[in-house]
Amino acid sequence: MSLNAKRIIVAVLSFLFLITLVIVAWVEGLKERVQAEPDPVLSGDNQPCYNCHKEKTPGVTAQWNDSKHSKVGVGCYDCHEAKEGDVDAWHHEGRLIATLVTPKDCGRCHQDIAAEFQDSHHAKAGQILGSLDNILGEIIEGPPAANSGCQQCHGSKIAFQTDPKGNILKDKSGKPLLDDATWPNSGIGRINLDGTIGTCSACHSRHRFSLEMSRRPDNCGKCHLGPDHPQKEIYDESKHGIAFVTADHQGKMHLDDEHWVVGETYSAAPTCATCHLSATRRQKATHNPGKRISWTLRPAISKKMDNWEDKRRNMQDVCSSCHAPDWINGFYSQYDRAVTLYNEKFGKPATKVMAALRKAKLVNATPFDEEIEWIYFFLWHHEGRRARMGASMMAPDYTQWHGFFEVAERFYMKLIPKAEELAEGHPEAKEVIDSVMDMEMHRWKKGMSKEQAEKIRSFYKKRYGQE
Ligand code: HEC
Ligand code: HEC
Ligand code: HEC
Ligand code: HEC
Ligand code: HEC
Ligand code: HEC
Ligand code: HEC
Ligand code: HEC
Repeated sequence: MSLNAKRIIVAVLSFLFLITLVIVAWVEGLKERVQAEPDPVLSGDNQPCYNCHKEKTPGVTAQWNDSKHSKVGVGCYDCHEAKEGDVDAWHHEGRLIATLVTPKDCGRCHQDIAAEFQDSHHAKAGQILGSLDNILGEIIEGPPAANSGCQQCHGSKIAFQTDPKGNILKDKSGKPLLDDATWPNSGIGRINLDGTIGTCSACHSRHRFSLEMSRRPDNCGKCHLGPDHPQKEIYDESKHGIAFVTADHQGKMHLDDEHWVVGETYSAAPTCATCHLSATRRQKATHNPGKRISWTLRPAISKKMDNWEDKRRNMQDVCSSCHAPDWINGFYSQYDRAVTLYNEKFGKPATKVMAALRKAKLVNATPFDEEIEWIYFFLWHHEGRRARMGASMMAPDYTQWHGFFEVAERFYMKLIPKAEELAEGHPEAKEVIDSVMDMEMHRWKKGMSKEQAEKIRSFYKKRYGQE
């Protein structure tokens, strides 16, 4: 081959190589442009807010940028806009705005959801002032404990800072100052200045308002956990929680799909939202979880809710996307029997004993100043709830070792001995305690038969060579 021919080949190859590079770069650029999020839609009113806050609070604008709202042109001013006369309105950079955004504001565009939410127990969760728990929080513990504890889940009653005469304090710009004992707060039943109750951002963390986040169990787990209502831990223990973790890792949950219908969009596992709020093939999604609950498991003695059959059918419709009728009915029988056992064997007898002690003036009217009141509280409010809630959502350890086991220990080893001690020399109270311990279910306490005792001894002997 001549030198010239070689040069020509090198030149052609180099040219082809360059062309390839250009094409690759062009395709990559195109791909990036296709994948990139569309630019946020900014109307005239929202533009200045966005531009300035991009500097001042870049986190807020970035989260909003990630939201569906930014794609459809729902901007800062659309939510923060205030009307002349609104108690919390203030002039900010040429616009009248409010810092608080309540269900009334969201309800301008999401009317049905806001109405349904206002009807739920969730929206009423701030109305706990008369409860025993509230005396614990506000008086026995102290107001800062209630502010940073109870109210961050239940919701505060938002108030302004005032001078001694009751005038609202304002800063230099004329912004009315919110009482920092009540704000910030995203408790689910917050009592707002505009008369509405609840906060949508309890589940739809601002400013992304992400559907995926609201459907994740961790979202509900901010509030539904701990010794007195461990729903998150119960779920994690259940086969449903286990299935969720795997399905989520495998991308089978499609949590950010707009329409999310169990049995259609996904079927690998249910999350809290699936069972309590989201759509099935027959039901629309709801913002009132009470529509699917048949028992209330919260009070000392569980009761069936009004129209409990309809509510149960709604929940069973969820189950039926993944399970056969006999499986579902079998589960509900087990659950009903566990709640009834708690009620009849422990909840009602313990309540009856406490009432007898009160009637005989052996326990006074002040709550929590006597040891037996704490014993009784632990029995129903912590351990008794755990037993019932564990059974309601398929967590055997919460039903048993964190539940009935502790209920039994509290009842037999603490409550009854303490009640007997108090009732000494008071026959009317003593009679009630005796009648409780005479019930068939409690008679084992009077001594087991020789055969029963021998059966236990021989079990350990055979198994471990020990007695
Ligand atoms: C020129 C800059 C600028 C513009 C324009 C602007 N902001 Fe602000 N904004 C700020 C700064 C700085 C703060 C923090 C200081 C303060 O509270 O005044 C703030 C605070 C806020 C707060 C929180 C107030 C509080 O009580 O904590 C909200 C809500 C808010 N802005 C919304 C908006 C909205 C809605 C718009 C558009 C109508 C807007 N901002 C326009 C600069 C701006
Ligand atoms: C879909 C409604 C919505 C939109 C749109 C929205 N916000 Fe908010 N914003 C909220 C809610 C809800 C809160 C919490 C207030 C409450 O709890 O009442 C909030 C709180 C705030 C706060 C005070 C809280 C903090 O973390 O300091 C600032 C500042 C703020 N928004 C700025 C903006 C800016 C800037 C934009 C536009 C980029 C914007 N918001 C868009 C709903 C919205
Ligand atoms: C000015 C009207 C407007 C206001 C005010 C508003 N939204 Fe929206 N919101 C929309 C529109 C429009 C959509 C998109 C609906 C669609 O795609 O079907 C949307 C979508 C949503 C979504 C679904 C997001 C997704 O990823 O699909 C949530 C959640 C939401 N809004 C919550 C709220 C909450 C909470 C508030 C109050 C803090 C609020 N919105 C205030 C108009 C509004
Ligand atoms: C971690 C969040 C959280 C904290 C902190 C908390 N709660 Fe609750 N509370 C809940 C949840 C969730 C429920 C509902 C449990 C259920 O339905 O199983 C509840 C239930 C209740 C109920 C029963 C409501 C009814 O309708 O029967 C009362 C009363 C109550 N809480 C008061 C308080 C008080 C007072 C405090 C502080 C001493 C407090 N709570 C602390 C989350 C919380
Ligand atoms: C208890 C948690 C919770 C609270 C509080 C809550 N949401 Fe939701 N929201 C959800 C869940 C979960 C979904 C997803 C339902 C599904 O799977 O489709 C959702 C979905 C939505 C959607 C999109 C679905 C649709 O039907 O358009 C909007 C909009 C919305 N919520 C608005 C609100 C508004 C407004 C409020 C306050 C009035 C609010 N949410 C309060 C949990 C909550
Ligand atoms: C910010 C705290 C908070 C979050 C987040 C929250 N809840 Fe609740 N939830 C509560 C409180 C408090 C109550 C008890 C309200 C009352 O009756 O006073 C409650 C009650 C309930 C009830 C009983 C309702 C009834 O009508 O009896 C169900 C079911 C429930 N929540 C499910 C959920 C699910 C599912 C989620 C997540 C999608 C969720 N919650 C998120 C605080 C919360
Ligand atoms: C497989 C469906 C399913 C899942 C998943 C599920 N639950 Fe439940 N949940 C139930 C059933 C069934 C009941 C009992 C309903 C009844 O009494 O009829 C219940 C009861 C409850 C109650 C009512 C307790 C009371 O005081 O009356 C709350 C609160 C609750 N669940 C919250 C949650 C939370 C939070 C999660 C996620 C961490 C969750 N659930 C996951 C099915 C489910
Ligand atoms: C999205 C599908 C789905 C829904 C909805 C659903 N489950 Fe399940 N369920 C499962 C899966 C997956 C398992 C685990 C099966 C296994 O491990 O073999 C399971 C397991 C169970 C178990 C066995 C628990 C154990 O420890 O062995 C029971 C009982 C059960 N579900 C009852 C219910 C009830 C009651 C409902 C409605 C309140 C319900 N499920 C809703 C998918 C679902």
